[in-house]
Amino acid sequence: MSKRPVILKAESVHKSYRMGATRVNVLKGADLTVHEGEFVAVIGASGSGKSTFLHILGGLDRPDQGVVSFQDRDLNRMRAWELNRYRNETVGFVFQFYHLLDELNVLENVYLPAMVSRGIPGWLGVRRAAKARARGLLEQLSLCDRARHKPYQLSGGERQRVAIGRALMNEPRLLLADEPTGNLDSATGNGILNVFEQLNGMGQTIVMVTHDERVAQRAGRVITLTDGKVKR
Ligand SMILES: Nc1ncnc2c1ncn2[C@@H]1O[C@H](COP(=O)(O)OP(=O)(O)O)[C@@H](O)[C@H]1O
Ligand SMILES: [Mg+2]
Repeated sequence: MSKRPVILKAESVHKSYRMGATRVNVLKGADLTVHEGEFVAVIGASGSGKSTFLHILGGLDRPDQGVVSFQDRDLNRMRAWELNRYRNETVGFVFQFYHLLDELNVLENVYLPAMVSRGIPGWLGVRRAAKARARGLLEQLSLCDRARHKPYQLSGGERQRVAIGRALMNEPRLLLADEPTGNLDSATGNGILNVFEQLNGMGQTIVMVTHDERVAQRAGRVITLTDGKVKR
């Protein structure tokens, strides 16, 4: 695996939050190197900074110190449009609580990122192809018969599969997942991990954070976040 090119690198990432008069140092020099095609799990206790770290890797938040680079491009040096494209197209996010839009049906939730990345005029040109891709993703995720349902009409496992479809819509180079099974019973959670395993088998690079040892063990490599750093 390590012979594959490096896709994502975090070096000495620091992040603290102000809590009233005090500062909480959450990340204190966290490092991570991910190679193309890897499935990496970051395990850590609740409050250890996993979500903070994942948000920084995905360009949703900035480190106070340290560098995150994607294919040797420093996120901190990207222009606003470039960083937006990174968040919307290069990376796909899956969250613990799905974050689907209840006003939209399943199919619309899945193709939404394609609308966002094109803007209205561009969207008109690609919408047929985008809808076809979204339908294909629903098929791959065994959700065909749910395309017109609203998220609130689905089970937790189905909602998370919709969220995975949305994350994959723009063919991300990197899938980032934050406790993707944290709200599911273990059988349903296993189904979600099977989907990740399948995607990784097809070459998808994945970074998943979790507090659950058994979930983490499904990844190809497990690293531990403790005391603000990645343990060696
Ligand atoms: N926006 C924020 N403002 C203040 N404190 C925060 C913020 N986000 C996270 N924290 C604190 O940072 C620590 C790590 O949070 P988080 O990254 O969510 O941990 P984890 O995902 O491992 O449970 C926690 O103590 C949390 O309270
Ligand atoms: Mg978290």
